[in-house]
Amino acid sequence: MNVTDVLVNEHMFLRTVFVAVERALDKAQTLAEVSMAARLVEGLMREHMECEESLLFRPLDALLKEKGQTCHLSSEHREHTALIRKAQTALSVQEGRSDLLLAFRILRAHFHDEERLVIRLAQTTLQPQSQETLGKEWLDRRAQCGHVDNPPSFKVPGKTAV
Ligand SMILES: [Fe+2]
Ligand SMILES: [Fe+2]
Repeated sequence: MNVTDVLVNEHMFLRTVFVAVERALDKAQTLAEVSMAARLVEGLMREHMECEESLLFRPLDALLKEKGQTCHLSSEHREHTALIRKAQTALSVQEGRSDLLLAFRILRAHFHDEERLVIRLAQTTLQPQSQETLGKEWLDRRAQCGHVDNPPSFKVPGKTAV
């Protein structure tokens, strides 16, 4: 699977997680539940961002810089992490839920931007073999995390896993 297909698949998986977490947040009654949801999202997003930056942004760095995009997208990653962490230290369930819902809205827009810009750039500038090699590296990293054989699930205390 080439690297752009892996990216799109991972975005699809993450969007599905966001929907599941949003449903769970509707029923969340404690800060512990909200914080656990935010920690789950932070872990998944950290793995995604690390692969994206090392296996897509770095190879495309020079080209992205010409378009002024590398710094923009990388700094957005830091902002996403900060917002997801803010949800973990919220002082009320409502505040934590709002932080996380805002993070999801921003992340969905970010995924859209990446699919519009980075994928097209990768497909037009990287050799097909390079796209395959980078995609294999991404999947190998996922397998090492256990996601391929053991997809992550979402569970909050006292609730059924999603
Ligand atoms: Fe990203
Ligand atoms: Fe992404």
